[in-house]
Amino acid sequence: MNTKTTVISQEELEHQFAYCDKIAAYWQSRRQVPTAYVETYGCQQNEADSEKLRGYLIQSGYRMISEAEGADVVILNTCAIREHAEQRVFGNLGALTHTKRRHPAQKIFLCGCMAGQEVVSSRIKASYPHVDGVFSTHHLWQFPEILWKVLDGKKRQFYITDEPGSIAEGIPQQRDSQLKAWVSIMYGCNNFCTYCIVPYVRGRERSRQPEDILRECRALIESGVKDITLLGQNVNSYGKDLSCGVDFADLLEQIAQIPGDFLIRFMTSHPRDASNKLFDTMAKYDKIAKQLHLPFQSGSSRILKAMNRHYDRETYLEKVRYAKQVMPSLVLTSDVIVGFPGETEEDFAQTLSLIEQVHYDSLFTFIFSPRPGTPAASMEDPTPKEEKNRRFDRLCALQNAISEQVHQNYVGKTMRCLVDGRDKEFLTARTEGGRLVRFQGCDSLIGSFQNLTITGATTWSLTGELAEQAANHR
Ligand code: SAH
Ligand code: SF4
Ligand code: F3S
Repeated sequence: MNTKTTVISQEELEHQFAYCDKIAAYWQSRRQVPTAYVETYGCQQNEADSEKLRGYLIQSGYRMISEAEGADVVILNTCAIREHAEQRVFGNLGALTHTKRRHPAQKIFLCGCMAGQEVVSSRIKASYPHVDGVFSTHHLWQFPEILWKVLDGKKRQFYITDEPGSIAEGIPQQRDSQLKAWVSIMYGCNNFCTYCIVPYVRGRERSRQPEDILRECRALIESGVKDITLLGQNVNSYGKDLSCGVDFADLLEQIAQIPGDFLIRFMTSHPRDASNKLFDTMAKYDKIAKQLHLPFQSGSSRILKAMNRHYDRETYLEKVRYAKQVMPSLVLTSDVIVGFPGETEEDFAQTLSLIEQVHYDSLFTFIFSPRPGTPAASMEDPTPKEEKNRRFDRLCALQNAISEQVHQNYVGKTMRCLVDGRDKEFLTARTEGGRLVRFQGCDSLIGSFQNLTITGATTWSLTGELAEQAANHR
């Protein structure tokens, strides 16, 4: 298999734009404004991909709507990370037989990480005849071509060849928010953690050129975006495949030097490659949010080895210690898997003790889900499901208590927050560390940074008031 990243040329992209024009002309000749619905599952990487699909659809004359009923195009952008995620997609895909029966011209597509698995595309070929097209993440840039072929009456389209992956610059993007933006800085993953499907469905690690990323960030900041999240499965290995000598810390520094009032954050960091240089850079710039999502997965070095994570408990704790030392206000979050094959009560106790030691603001907690084709799926797994559920509940109870305690510590503090919307009678805002704060105020504040004094806390969120008002109350 070819292992080189393919860079999609401007010419190839122009070719796709020509398909967009053809599709727009097709609908104009019918005097119709077609509608489209994109449903996104999984992580921010998929959210960012869906913004590109919407960008292409809008360029092809489609109006976006918020449900599948009546839509001329429906796309399910799927996630394969756990079995449960896939079952949901198959359930929802089945339900689309009804929307299509009511609107027979509806064209249905499945893309994203599930589409990168041979077992999934075969199942769709055999058992889901109402699906018109399937394309893996490697083929997203060809979506206009795929859509055109389907509209033009060609047979069902399957763009699912296994590739190391490509980089396409210049795909139009319809962003969800004018305040916050995702910017993918790299694609794919080389880590092959033994439980994880991502490297199989998203291909090899490949970094965008720093100039392209900087240009995108500058344009976003000029257009009023206040919060940028840099995305990659393992941002700390950014640049390893480039020849320009720019690593992730350098890239962050260059973005932080762009003039303007904004915050920049990133996910996900792999602990193996998270360097002191990165933490020092984060500490140096006010524009880099003091927030770190650093998945540990397990507190047991034995299990970490079986997971192929390339760090042990002690190295992880040492990195956290250094990060907290140089950034005392750091908000730390993480991912953890309970019930990895062979996890004993002793291993699990080490996970609990690591959680107590680090004191995360919040955790994303998962029960191990075997993914066909990954090494962990065929490892011996003697622990019964009920025991795994019990461990999961114990872990959640511990973290909830910690989250509540961490949140209580916010009470009385005044923090600079980005006001990002309204939820019924409250405005919503995010602290620099990404915590949700509800407070009372008028809509004109949406889009600005405000100093909020925290007045209350629950496990999940904070309440506050504008700092000047809080001062008047004293
Ligand atoms: N690239 C990121 C994580 C991507 S997947 C990283 O390396 O940290 C998000 C999370 O899903 C992972 O951190 C892991 O905790 C969880 N996960 C991945 N595969 C899983 C599986 N097979 N079963 C249960 N949880 C899994
Ligand atoms: Fe999966 Fe590991 Fe890559 Fe994260 S680093 S995407 S967990 S293989
Ligand atoms: Fe899911 Fe793919 Fe993200 S498997 S978690 S959508 S990279």
